[in-house]
Amino acid sequence: MHTILEELEHRRNQARQGGGEKRIATQHAKGKLTARERIALLLDEGSFEEFDMFVEHRAVEFGMDKTRIPGDGVVTGWGTVNGRVVYVFSKDFTVFGGSLSGAHAKKILKVMDQAQKLGAPVIGLYDAGGARIQEGVESLAGYADIFLQNVMASGVIPQISVIMGPCAGGDVYSPAMTDFIFMVKDTSYMFVTGPDVVKTVTNEVVTAEELGGARVHATKSGVADGAFENDLEALTQVRRLVDFLPLSNREKPPHRESYDDAEREERSLDTLVPSNPNKPYDMKELILKVVDEGDFFEIAPDYAKNIVIGFGRMDGDTVGFVANQPLSLAGVLDIDSSRKAARFVRFCDAFEIPIVTFVDVPGFMPGTRQEYGGLIKHGAKLLFAYAEATVPKITVITRKAYGGAYDVMSSKHLRGDFNYAWPTAEIAVMGAKGAVEIIFRADASDPQKLAEREAEYKQRFANPFVAAQLGYIDDVIMPHGTRRRLVRALKSLKTKQLSNPAKKHDNIPL
Ligand code: HXC
Repeated sequence: MHTILEELEHRRNQARQGGGEKRIATQHAKGKLTARERIALLLDEGSFEEFDMFVEHRAVEFGMDKTRIPGDGVVTGWGTVNGRVVYVFSKDFTVFGGSLSGAHAKKILKVMDQAQKLGAPVIGLYDAGGARIQEGVESLAGYADIFLQNVMASGVIPQISVIMGPCAGGDVYSPAMTDFIFMVKDTSYMFVTGPDVVKTVTNEVVTAEELGGARVHATKSGVADGAFENDLEALTQVRRLVDFLPLSNREKPPHRESYDDAEREERSLDTLVPSNPNKPYDMKELILKVVDEGDFFEIAPDYAKNIVIGFGRMDGDTVGFVANQPLSLAGVLDIDSSRKAARFVRFCDAFEIPIVTFVDVPGFMPGTRQEYGGLIKHGAKLLFAYAEATVPKITVITRKAYGGAYDVMSSKHLRGDFNYAWPTAEIAVMGAKGAVEIIFRADASDPQKLAEREAEYKQRFANPFVAAQLGYIDDVIMPHGTRRRLVRALKSLKTKQLSNPAKKHDNIPL
């Protein structure tokens, strides 16, 4: 008996060593943690239970039969984050560069399957070189099986990817189909093909950082939803995000007891909007002042900054916030901001998270760059996402709600449940100056007359009352009472029932 127990311990230790001390030292020298160290930081202490620790690859070509390492380049299992079950897989770069073999794929598939059955999120930690080159099509098959499960799990359980090393091929496509992707600055890269291939095919000389570093994906491409300084910060922030999310679409997001008074008034909000309509202000200040304890988890803070998205809580319950940001491009809707917000709205809708929308939008971005880039289709994504969403939707117009952007931003017409406006709201087809220049073109040579017309237009339309008279705004509210009104509205909407017509699926303009 004694020897059997020793044998088990010996085998476990062997598996824990991964690719061996030397490769672990190299990993640390690069500022990266090992697969197991990462899991230990992600999960509650002592909660990790590992699956398939002794699984080995079955390849024999290229001398592979002589290099079998228990675990085969990925650590899988389950544990808890603040007491709630999550499933994890963590790629081990010290074993064949974390590359995916048939056996490695089956380990990940087991975790994904289990998570879907139980209704628990899957968190993937990536540090991997894609398909195991020595296994050929066996590896490609493994990826395809994983991709299929990513799609099946989408909208059923939250899927989160953290990119913590160089990732290529299948190790970027699978994350691409998950709900959120986070990266670590300076040590992680994501590309379909690496710098060498790029040079061969396009003659372009580019470094890995320039091609697919964390900064590139968090600011330019929008592939990543956040870039963090190191492994520890990334994993800590993922724990924070998980706390806002439901475990699956079968249950509600977690309720966290709040010590923040639901009736709290914020007098400073009464002066948030400047009297000059062209002066920007920080919409994040409004979000931070209405959410419980100022706790807001922003998604993609450095990409398409003209729209702010993220999670907060109102009286203990998770809410998804979408807000135009006047500080960036005057809060205009363009291709990137429309795509960013549309995907977020769909995530919230899939997981029954109510959406609060703060509106200050001068319209859609004009110009050839936007039109050639397909603004019509991309802008329509946001419109489509809001229209199809059946979760509680509350809108507060703080200032501008001009033109089509008024319609898009969770208007009453798209089944908004509570649509409020601050007294500073201006709901119109466009700004007063632009409007009079078009409808009073005949007066163009008379600046005095134009100014009078502009004042008249402002008086008539630059307010919330025309929309309120028509019932498109349910109430004009005082800014300082916004938190109280939102909490009340969200509470009353807990019993909301709404469904869309039966269909196989819709055809959102992709
Ligand atoms: C087998 C691999 C491997 C792979 C790396 N290794 N990638 N083994 N298959 N795909 C091994 C190396 O041989 C090495 O083993 C160890 O991992 C570390 O790799 P290094 O190259 O020394 O590390 P580094 O310099 O940091 O570079 C990391 C890397 C690079 C950028 C990931 O290794 C690389 O470019 N790998 C190939 C990437 C790739 O083209 N993958 C296929 C994509 S196609 P030793 O024994 O020396 O430690 C794909 C198909 C799916 O994924 C399609 C989906 C649509």
